Amino acid sequence: MVTFEPGNCLRLPDLPKNLFDILNKASSKAGISRVALVGGAVRDLCFHIFFNGPLPELQDLDFIVEGSASRLAKEIKNYIDHCRLSKWKIYKDFDTVEMKIDGVAVDIATSRRETYSVLGENPAISPCSIEKDLARRDFTVNAIAIDISDLTLIDPYNGIKDLKEKKLNFLSKMSVSQDPTRVIRGARYAARLNFDLSTEALNQVKSTIQDWPWSWHFKDNESLVPTSLSTRLRLELTLLIEKEPIWEALNHLNNWGAFSLIDKKFCFKRSYRRKLSWATKLKANRLIALILLFENPELVGKRLKVTLKEQKLISEAITIENFLKQKNINDECSKWTPLKWCQEIESKNWSTEAIALAISIGVPEWKSLLRWLGHWRLIKSPISGKDLIASGWQPGPLLGAELKRLREVQLKQIMKRN
Ligand code: CTP
Repeated sequence: MVTFEPGNCLRLPDLPKNLFDILNKASSKAGISRVALVGGAVRDLCFHIFFNGPLPELQDLDFIVEGSASRLAKEIKNYIDHCRLSKWKIYKDFDTVEMKIDGVAVDIATSRRETYSVLGENPAISPCSIEKDLARRDFTVNAIAIDISDLTLIDPYNGIKDLKEKKLNFLSKMSVSQDPTRVIRGARYAARLNFDLSTEALNQVKSTIQDWPWSWHFKDNESLVPTSLSTRLRLELTLLIEKEPIWEALNHLNNWGAFSLIDKKFCFKRSYRRKLSWATKLKANRLIALILLFENPELVGKRLKVTLKEQKLISEAITIENFLKQKNINDECSKWTPLKWCQEIESKNWSTEAIALAISIGVPEWKSLLRWLGHWRLIKSPISGKDLIASGWQPGPLLGAELKRLREVQLKQIMKRN
């Protein structure tokens, strides 16, 4: 049994003062036998203490308790200065609690076992011991806990050994089929921690994806996919894109054949990096930029249950692409002046983000779109509406038309200068 030296947990940066003391007192009052810290904070702390890994900024603290999480949370209020507490929320259905202590997110959950009646859907839950709760988790390195009463390490699945070997091992043979989002989580951890999937884990990923029970072919109805899975896949992909070393993580997904979870035919080509980098430069939605690289982006968007606003972005970007492809075939737009470009683009009312996405994916004439986005669209009439009114113009459509005319004069000037 490994016991932490007393100071070790204090190495967690931003650990709220006396937190373990408070939880120990509150749990004994609430009749709760055991409370343990679990998840990413324990993984990172152990990796740091035992193997000199980096200790990243604390994201959140996850506790599990053998007993009622909401009872413990209510009791905590008797042992802490109320001004240290914020964002208090109890979820009755799962008996979980979220709060902030000294600004640090603290989640408390009743330890639970999960059973899947439909693979990939949300599981049914029932209370159990801390050890059994750890068994339902994704990777062994995420299934280590610290009993906060005596700081002993609970590591029934050899997570510490895997930390040492920098390996990601699933906890069960059914891990991926029960929750395919774990493959994306694996790519996130592998990229962030510089770990590899173990051979068994990689085999599980490949074989499960190959035999995946749902058809994800283009002609299939996206309603075949469980709703909760679609949403969770999207959330994990967003985290991968926004928070992790993106190229390493996408590379892992590619090498593991994991894009098949979204579309069997998709493969992340090297040239796509440039496209996603453009999306970053132009501050466009990178998940949507990625989706636009698939053969049928609208279908993929629906499968991942992107928001309506994002679906509209996908459709607009495709419309822009089709419009420019058509104009390009007829060789119409190569001689367009900046004024003509402005008239064409602005008459369509496309959103600037859709235009940024179209530029990212490299539609024909993307350079002109880029000039419009970064320069031409910002050119205004040299005289403002206010000045025109001050010089006697009446507010209304005529004034609008005059402002437009004055702007067009400006745009023609550019043409002359170029
Ligand atoms: N978990 C899981 N399967 C999932 C999601 C989460 O088993 N599909 C478990 C893991 O044990 C994980 C814990 O729930 O450690 C908390 O999940 P999350 O907050 O997403 O990750 P962290 O462990 O906090 O890790 P990090 O935030 O560093 O990614």
